[in-house]
Amino acid sequence: MKIRTLGSSEPVPWDLLLEADPDIKHIEGYFAESSVRIAVSRERVIGICASMETAPGTWEIMNLSVSSEYRGRGVGAQLIADAEALAIQSGGRAIEVGTGNSSIRQLGFYQRCGYRITGIRPDHFVHTYGEPIYEDGIPCRDMIRLEKQLVPQ
Ligand SMILES: CC(C)(COP(=O)(O)OP(=O)(O)OC[C@H]1O[C@@H](n2cnc3c(N)ncnc32)[C@H](O)[C@@H]1OP(=O)(O)O)[C@@H](O)C(=O)NCCC(=O)NCCS
Repeated sequence: MKIRTLGSSEPVPWDLLLEADPDIKHIEGYFAESSVRIAVSRERVIGICASMETAPGTWEIMNLSVSSEYRGRGVGAQLIADAEALAIQSGGRAIEVGTGNSSIRQLGFYQRCGYRITGIRPDHFVHTYGEPIYEDGIPCRDMIRLEKQLVPQ
């Protein structure tokens, strides 16, 4: 497995992006401005991570997705480490991510990767997405914000 930048002439792996963020309009809003890295195995794109600087010194993981058949093998953790390295190279001091209150496994995953919960945006997904989203029977309403410091404070 290799992680590299998605070339500008390569097809965009929309299927992967939409698994992490079902709103195509929302993806279009950050995708062009993001650094887009892909995990490739046997010439197949198996994972993607889009990240961008959202404030001076602060980066955000806008989209992170791994093909279902490759999950649980460390690809997601490697894509996160790659995004963090990219942010540090560009002078980033902190990196953030937001996920749904119902994304219980993802909340565990990010915290195992060293992210700490910094806040909640109540009803964020109620306002963002037209259709109600449920994961394991839990309504996805609020965005949980997480952050990792990249350099000692
Ligand atoms: C979240 C995601 C990127 C993690 O990628 P991954 O390659 O499975 O991650 P890793 O193998 O490095 O770590 C797996 C860990 O993530 C957690 N996890 C979260 N969702 C998972 C899923 N659907 N399948 C397997 N593991 C998942 C597991 O708890 C696992 O923890 P463990 O290794 O301690 O058991 C991936 O599951 C995914 O693409 N999910 C769908 C899209 C999504 O939810 N993106 C995040 C939006 S905020």
